[in-house]
Amino acid sequence: MRNPDSSTFLNELFDLKGKVAVVIGGTGVLCGAMAWGLWRAGCRVVLVGRNPGKAESHFQRWGSPPDEARFFEADVTRRDQVVTIIPAVMDWFGRIDIWINGAAINPPVPYFDITNEQFDNILDTNLKTVHMACQIIGKHWIDNGQKGCIINMSSMAAVRPLSRVFVYSLTKAALLNLTQNLAREWAIHGIRVNALCPGFFPAEQNRRVLDKSRVKAIMDHTPMRRFGDVEELIGATLLLASEKAGSFVTGSNLVVDGGFSVTSI
Ligand SMILES: NC(=O)c1ccc[n+]([C@@H]2O[C@H](COP(=O)([O-])OP(=O)(O)OC[C@H]3O[C@@H](n4cnc5c(N)ncnc54)[C@H](O)[C@@H]3O)[C@@H](O)[C@H]2O)c1
Repeated sequence: MRNPDSSTFLNELFDLKGKVAVVIGGTGVLCGAMAWGLWRAGCRVVLVGRNPGKAESHFQRWGSPPDEARFFEADVTRRDQVVTIIPAVMDWFGRIDIWINGAAINPPVPYFDITNEQFDNILDTNLKTVHMACQIIGKHWIDNGQKGCIINMSSMAAVRPLSRVFVYSLTKAALLNLTQNLAREWAIHGIRVNALCPGFFPAEQNRRVLDKSRVKAIMDHTPMRRFGDVEELIGATLLLASEKAGSFVTGSNLVVDGGFSVTSI
């Protein structure tokens, strides 16, 4: 028997046409690439961040018509700014289906030098923002009887506590716990909550941590002997975002790390 057209099968399995994705931290390196992947798959996307110039350079690379991709300026540590995202996106696109929480900072401070102010700042940016955004979008979906999908940006630091980034690591570990808790609570409402766990991808927020000795340590510990390329996060993003392909996936931490996390000896 002839195998029917495989592209139709794949299009239906990963159908994202017309969906709307809000990407917090989409002005950055990893989430910018993930947003591009969603846009290429047919989503309309909103990049949320503090820097319109960064969003503009993403859009220029995409060659995107302005009605399919927008930038929304917000400091996501501020609840009063996060609550303004939903009405703006509803006004532009009339729906929200996918919400990615990717804003983070990663200052490498020796453990005994971490001040309370730095600790609070990292917690506010990496964890409180995710909690606030989940509260706000979760309530919106549940109140309106809508399904949705949240992807929280976790990290290798959550599953393998990494030297030099103590507070970053604990925020990413806590974020996994939050992801699992919300997945359990909201499955009944048709809301899936997952984490995406990248290994090492050279980007802005880890540039200061990646000196020569650390790069060597990472390579020695990564069976694929290389960094990830940001576009290698797109397949995992589409799986988690797709209503059909990812329909039974919730509470997971999808690792994309070239084997770093499974390496011991
Ligand atoms: N790069 C890696 O190897 C790596 C590995 C594991 C996990 N991650 C995670 O992936 C996500 C993206 O990382 P990246 O490397 O692309 O970082 P990045 O610094 O390029 O992007 C982060 C973005 O978040 C924005 N942001 C930070 N604070 C904000 C705030 N208060 N309000 C609004 N926007 C804010 C930044 O301006 C930036 O555009 C982060 O959550 C990071 O922890 C990255």
